Amino acid sequence: MEQNNQTVQRGKFITFEGIDGAGKSTHIAAVVEFIKSHGLAVVSTREPGGTPLGEKLRELLLHEEMHLETEALLMFAARREHLARVIEPALARGDWVVCDRFSDATYAYQGGGRGLDKIKFETLEAWVHGHLHPDLTFLFDVPPAVASQRIAAQGRDLDKFEQERTDFHARVRQAYLERAAAAPQRIQVINADQPLEVIRQQVLDIINQRGV
Ligand code: TYD
Repeated sequence: MEQNNQTVQRGKFITFEGIDGAGKSTHIAAVVEFIKSHGLAVVSTREPGGTPLGEKLRELLLHEEMHLETEALLMFAARREHLARVIEPALARGDWVVCDRFSDATYAYQGGGRGLDKIKFETLEAWVHGHLHPDLTFLFDVPPAVASQRIAAQGRDLDKFEQERTDFHARVRQAYLERAAAAPQRIQVINADQPLEVIRQQVLDIINQRGV
């Protein structure tokens, strides 16, 4: 019998970040379609969540009050499950993975927003995914005032994070921008206070440059 000795090329791991209301969801859908249009398999997922257990943890994380460190630990627990069951197998079989938020969100929200020391996340990150990091991260950057107007215009019930005050979101944004400055090759900052079509084109151009 003929043996297939070809090694499968690992897929690319792309994450999307930004404060609540930055508008990343619209662009995630466009990126997934773009990757598919190049004949590549792509898994679209999100954090916290992405697995049956992770989605249960998401429900708790977004709606229950809890100690700040419990919140950070549950984010990483959901992430470990997500990596083991969805992200790692997909990348190993050559699929691309597009993920709505990942560990940068923990640094930004539980670190910048809530004030937890980032040394804690560095330890958890090394434990949970020291071997695996996103190849590319889009940071949708927008002033908190613009983001909160967008959320208000949607007229829906707000989760625990969306209910936080503007100064919380300003700190989250600052923490995201600091991470981007420290990893400018991986984290691409997109000005999300522009027309949708302009943003979409910028995002797809960057993915093209990275070799779709
Ligand atoms: P979000 O991604 O904005 O989902 P939706 O678009 O459906 O509202 O919601 C996830 C929330 O979880 C968001 O407010 C940020 C928060 N979050 C953290 O605080 N830490 C994390 O590590 C992650 C992944 C998310």
